[in-house]
Amino acid sequence: MKPQLGSLLSIDQLTTGQIEAVLRLARRMDPNRPSRVLHGKRVVLLFYEASTRTRTSFEFAAKALGAVTTLVTATSSSIEKGESLIDTGWTVECIGADVIVMRHPNSGSADLMSRYMHVPIVNAGDGMHQHPSQALLDAMTMLNHKKTLRGLRVVIVGDVYHSRVARSNAELLSRFGADVVLCGPLDFVPEVASTLAPGVTVSHDLNNALQGADVVMALRVQKERLAGRHHSVEDYIANYQVTAQRMKLAKPDAILMHPGPVIRGIELTSEVADGPQSCIHEQVRNGVKTRMAILAMTLGAA
Ligand code: CP
Repeated sequence: MKPQLGSLLSIDQLTTGQIEAVLRLARRMDPNRPSRVLHGKRVVLLFYEASTRTRTSFEFAAKALGAVTTLVTATSSSIEKGESLIDTGWTVECIGADVIVMRHPNSGSADLMSRYMHVPIVNAGDGMHQHPSQALLDAMTMLNHKKTLRGLRVVIVGDVYHSRVARSNAELLSRFGADVVLCGPLDFVPEVASTLAPGVTVSHDLNNALQGADVVMALRVQKERLAGRHHSVEDYIANYQVTAQRMKLAKPDAILMHPGPVIRGIELTSEVADGPQSCIHEQVRNGVKTRMAILAMTLGAA
């Protein structure tokens, strides 16, 4: 296994060994015990889209390893004046970036950026395409509760079609032998989603999908995406909201996950989000450790 990851653009790009190495290193990371392994390194956080968890945890992760960070957002930077993605990338590279962590609303933007830059690009979410660090922290969270990913029944419910989290998770989990069920209304989970990876199936019946589930992952559902489709918000809640009653259909030791931001009252109830099976806060905490491992491996300091 090469200790250096290079750019992290998608789950697809990683070997199984590299995924295992990130997870192993993430488990050893402790954000409360600062280290200097990235001392002198400069991490640019280039965010064209809103973020709380990813942006903050990459920043804390970099600082916990001794790097310095700077944030460039689409507003209050020259992006607002019309500077292109690649010109912005070249600019931050010339200023001294050692790695660019970027989030962008367009699928493929991180990959495009990586073709023009000499420094590694870490994809912090590109459109509907990929969110590899989220899938890695989700795998770490599952492995904190389950011995292995192999054979786990993982039900991912919500707007799968628009979800880079669902895509990245389905690819990673199926690679490690989990049975992934993508669930939601037809508009959000087209039948073709089952071709995403081997071991991935589609269901439009949540009560059925939840039978025997080990992991239930609810996804964000934007109200405006429900409006005008076949399903109203009320229909969605009636058929797909994760409730305490529905959690009883899963295994008794099933865990509940959500990548955030959580929209309470639509995708899940507060009772479930704050309940004993919820790992939502743990996912956020694991985000810092996972991103420490990613930055260390990307910059060859693992
Ligand atoms: N899960 C996630 O990507 O959250 P943010 O949009 O807040 O970064």
